[in-house]
Amino acid sequence: MNLGEIEKKVLEKIKPRREEYELLMKAYRKIESTIYKILEKHGVKAEVTLQGSVAHDTWLSGERDLDVFVLFPKEWSIEELRSRGFSILLEAAEEIGNYSIRYAEHPYVRVILDNVQADLVPAFKLNSPKEVRTAVDRTPFHTKYVNEHLDEELRDHVRLFKRFLKGLGIYGAEVKVKGFSGYLSELLIIKYGGFHDVISRAAEWKAPVFIDMIGDPGIFRVLRKKYPESVMYVPDPVDPARNVAAAVSLYSLATLVIASKCYRVNPCIEYYYPSTSSLEIDFSFIDNRCIVLVTLESSEFSKLPPDVLWGELHRVTDRAVKLAERFEFNVMDWSNWTDEERIAVIGLEVDECSKEYPKLYQGPPYYSSKRVLDFISKHVFKGSIGPWIRRDGLLLALGSRKYVSIRDLLIDRTWEYLVAPHFRGLTPRVYILGEDPFDVLKLMDRDWVVGFVFKRRDWINCCIR
Ligand code: CTP
Ligand code: MG
Repeated sequence: MNLGEIEKKVLEKIKPRREEYELLMKAYRKIESTIYKILEKHGVKAEVTLQGSVAHDTWLSGERDLDVFVLFPKEWSIEELRSRGFSILLEAAEEIGNYSIRYAEHPYVRVILDNVQADLVPAFKLNSPKEVRTAVDRTPFHTKYVNEHLDEELRDHVRLFKRFLKGLGIYGAEVKVKGFSGYLSELLIIKYGGFHDVISRAAEWKAPVFIDMIGDPGIFRVLRKKYPESVMYVPDPVDPARNVAAAVSLYSLATLVIASKCYRVNPCIEYYYPSTSSLEIDFSFIDNRCIVLVTLESSEFSKLPPDVLWGELHRVTDRAVKLAERFEFNVMDWSNWTDEERIAVIGLEVDECSKEYPKLYQGPPYYSSKRVLDFISKHVFKGSIGPWIRRDGLLLALGSRKYVSIRDLLIDRTWEYLVAPHFRGLTPRVYILGEDPFDVLKLMDRDWVVGFVFKRRDWINCCIR
């Protein structure tokens, strides 16, 4: 379980120091006592607990997020938890500092005090995970499990693995990322016994990946049935019918597998910390390419929970790709981005921005009498080239295209891709890199644009032998 030089260097940066622990605990004590005070005022008996990576001691220096779960009586209904429980947390938050209301499966409150961010989450106090009613009720059992299975050394391995995943851009189960959650990272380290062991295993993975956390291979069938879309299956040790890896996308899985193969050959710091070069976009990189950015603006975006917004953006992106392909643009890459406030962007790279040459129309088979005659008449009247019968027997014609340019296609056929509730009816602007003024890039995240144009991640440069 010896770590290499690079890994020791990374650990040096991400292992929190004593002062940082103290800062967090001071904030936690303040939150804890305020919530107890409000609970008492309302005569409610509940338990304030610290959960998540701070309770597991697997958090990374600089990431000061407290997960504070307030456990209410299980005799309460879910509605009571969401109204009464939530309003108590809201009242506490008003006293603690700046706060905002967030939504996951149910509402919670995010407060900021002294450079520390804390999520105050209402949940039930349960005796066993079998009684779980909401998604967050499992969390206290996760904390117990993780703390029983991780020692001092392995906690550092978790930190290292999390930093590795963050560097690769695949850390977190949120819809934006669809990657590996903190808890999943912890389970993998527990299962395989260290960072290098996880990397070696991951290097050999192929979907569907099943990790037997509980010594019951039969659970794989149960999970596959319940999560038919997943590419990775990891039964939750505290509730085995739940797949901890349900959110992992094929992109995230493939990225971890390829990066692991590469890392074993030649580890380097770029996996953990991609250099955020101040390089401007190099114009020579976009010569002879067609990179299209479709921007969509709406003041509604800021009101949506990020998971909803990203979910809709993924769907809209998918539909834009299909639309472009249906009109014979060869889509070589796509991506998307949003500031989660007012702008969303779809990026497409196609082989050519405009298709000047005619379109090949394929006719019906020679033996289908009526359709053959219809096809011939239609193309003769349209002034197409042909129709003719090619040497392989196909009836064909060369005609004009409905959309010569991808820009016109994306501006004209919005109803075919802006299909999500908060995108329907928006007016897209279409920018082509190199053709249109570069000002538009100021609206979006530079790293995203640079990543989409350059494509090669820093760590790929280390992957050579
Ligand atoms: N959790 C979960 N499933 C998720 C997200 C969160 O079960 N998809 C639970 C886990 O028990 C996790 C806790 O909620 O430990 C806190 O979640 P989060 O803050 O997202 O992860 P951490 O483990 O705290 O990791 P970090 O904050 O360091 O990223
Ligand atoms: Mg956390």
